[in-house]
Amino acid sequence: MNRWIIPALAVALAACSAQTPLTDPVARGERDFNGLGCVKCHQIGDKGHAWGPDLTMLGFRKSSAWIDAWLKDPHAWNPKTLMPNFHLKPETRADLVAYLSAQKGQAWPVKPWQTPEAAALSSAERGKIIFNAVGCVSCHAKDGYGGYPNNNVAGGLVNALTKVTEGYSRPELHQKIKGGAIPIPNDSKQPLPMLQMPKWGEQLSAKEIDAVVEYLYTLAPKAAAGGKPSKDDF
Ligand code: HEC
Ligand code: HEC
Repeated sequence: MNRWIIPALAVALAACSAQTPLTDPVARGERDFNGLGCVKCHQIGDKGHAWGPDLTMLGFRKSSAWIDAWLKDPHAWNPKTLMPNFHLKPETRADLVAYLSAQKGQAWPVKPWQTPEAAALSSAERGKIIFNAVGCVSCHAKDGYGGYPNNNVAGGLVNALTKVTEGYSRPELHQKIKGGAIPIPNDSKQPLPMLQMPKWGEQLSAKEIDAVVEYLYTLAPKAAAGGKPSKDDF
């Protein structure tokens, strides 16, 4: 009797999946991002939870090659990371990379620093929101402390931003953020550093960059601001 039931089931299943033909890797990646629980720790647009970095602009700041390496084994890049290794199948990983690489800020209904609440804040406070939302924090770490791994750079880490006021005037800092930078490789025979400072002028207005500059100036070590040096300054 199974002879007819099984083909009938197969037809029914085929009809079912035909209703949701996810032929687009980006759409499959979105489905998996939600289905695998990435949303428990990450936010894209106004969906998910901001426990880990906001990924709404991930595709602008990080290359597909880096995202792929990260998803393959987060601890291989950052032994201290709190992100679990999902042991993703290569196909699933490829779909997630397609979805995440497509995230260039378009998922925000309103950018977090352009809300009426943010408009009432000081420029430096708005700059801090930008710093975290667009993901400066994903390379330069919380409050610009640095210490996130990079390949083939002196010291093996992305630089801290807590002392930029010593090396840059406000206009110079603005220019640096606007134009981005590729770090000088430690060894010219090795692959280029995968984490590069993006050209933020392509995403942020001059006024928004100025707000970030004001925020970075609040990160100056206390000694430089005229206070007593403390152990946190070094
Ligand atoms: C338990 C919380 C948690 C879960 C679940 C989680 N992540 Fe993460 N993820 C993090 C944290 C924390 C970081 C910050 C980086 C670090 O710790 O080094 C991160 C970093 C990332 C980054 C790099 C972010 C950046 O801005 O450079 C990507 C990409 C990422 N996660 C994707 C995913 C995907 C895709 C999933 C689901 C398969 C996922 N994460 C699930 C916690 C999580
Ligand atoms: C993908 C990683 C990445 C992201 C995201 C990123 N940066 Fe950078 N940034 C770097 C790297 C790498 C350098 C070092 C470039 C070099 O060596 O010339 C750098 C350099 C800098 C410098 C110069 C520091 C110095 O001491 O010379 C400033 C300022 C800076 N970044 C600010 C920012 C701000 C503000 C944002 C967000 C709007 C941001 N960065 C986002 C990777 C990143």
